[in-house]
Amino acid sequence: MEEVSISHLTKNFGELIAVNDMNLEISAGSIFGLLGPNGAGKSTTTRVLSTLLKPTSGTAVVGGHDIREDPVQVRQITGVLPEEANHTIYEAMSAYENLQYFARLYGVAEEAIEPAIKELLEFMDLWDRKDDLAGELSTGNRQRVALCRALLHKPTVLLLDEPTSALDPVASKRVRELILDLSKKYNQTFFINSHNLAEVQRMCNKIAIIDEGKILLAGDTAELRHKLRAQQKYKLLIRGDISPAEGIVKDLNYIKSYESAIDTILLEIENPMDNNVKLLRALLDAGVNVMELAEDEATLEDLYLEVIKGGAK
Ligand SMILES: Nc1ncnc2c1ncn2[C@@H]1O[C@H](COP(=O)(O)OP(=O)(O)OP(=O)(O)O)[C@@H](O)[C@H]1O
Ligand SMILES: [Mg+2]
Repeated sequence: MEEVSISHLTKNFGELIAVNDMNLEISAGSIFGLLGPNGAGKSTTTRVLSTLLKPTSGTAVVGGHDIREDPVQVRQITGVLPEEANHTIYEAMSAYENLQYFARLYGVAEEAIEPAIKELLEFMDLWDRKDDLAGELSTGNRQRVALCRALLHKPTVLLLDEPTSALDPVASKRVRELILDLSKKYNQTFFINSHNLAEVQRMCNKIAIIDEGKILLAGDTAELRHKLRAQQKYKLLIRGDISPAEGIVKDLNYIKSYESAIDTILLEIENPMDNNVKLLRALLDAGVNVMELAEDEATLEDLYLEVIKGGAK
């Protein structure tokens, strides 16, 4: 049984179809990334999964509980970081009091509350700020408190809407490490909305790209890596002026396409096994200072841009 199983999930706001017949399976312990442009329907999906919004049709089973039939149980086993979570912390209470309040609300045993808060706040580098009023913390620090709040009751499924959007690079890295660690150690399942493609590529083992409420592409990392490899490009790094190299490259019949940047040319080469050597010889004979010719690892960003471009047609 999958930990999150979404079937024909649809959410309308009047005429607008924010989530359109979504189907998705996410297994326990995996880290899933939902990607898509602004207004694609990511947050709406998270809100429906966390039972904050009722679906228009279709349903989802989260940790064994149907969101329509057992919303209370779903809430008990999920941890939620809403969009702009920094606004959802009580400003007139301290960081510690916020967490204590929610721990009690979640029914965390009284003696377990302080150690749980301490562990999380220490991890987020906030223990020494625990008595500061939340309203006096920076946006990113309030976001960290909200993340602690989502994790406090050791939920089995975490629904995180742009968890690192307000965080500095060091804090973002910590959060990524924490997510990886928790998914391994406690088999917690993560459902993450994000615009940070590099982060998703590094962290998630399954992704989906949605636009206008429709999933355009979904797959696990291995499958996507396969797709990415189909559009392999080569990076030619040059010292000095690249224009002589451009002049050569544009006339070679085995160069399918090229794209220039400051000191590199990105190439699509036909039959690279045979033609890479020819290319290098042609460039070196013409006196071009070639620093490197290497496979350019396609990124999730390449795939995303291609899928979104295709979807917008
Ligand atoms: N409460 C609401 N009432 C009416 N329309 C809404 C409501 N919430 C969201 N929408 C609309 O639903 C669509 C999906 O919005 P959603 O917030 O899910 O997008 P998103 O993918 O999270 O975007 P972003 O990346 O900007 O956070 C948008 O067109 C939005 O305007
Ligand atoms: Mg959103």
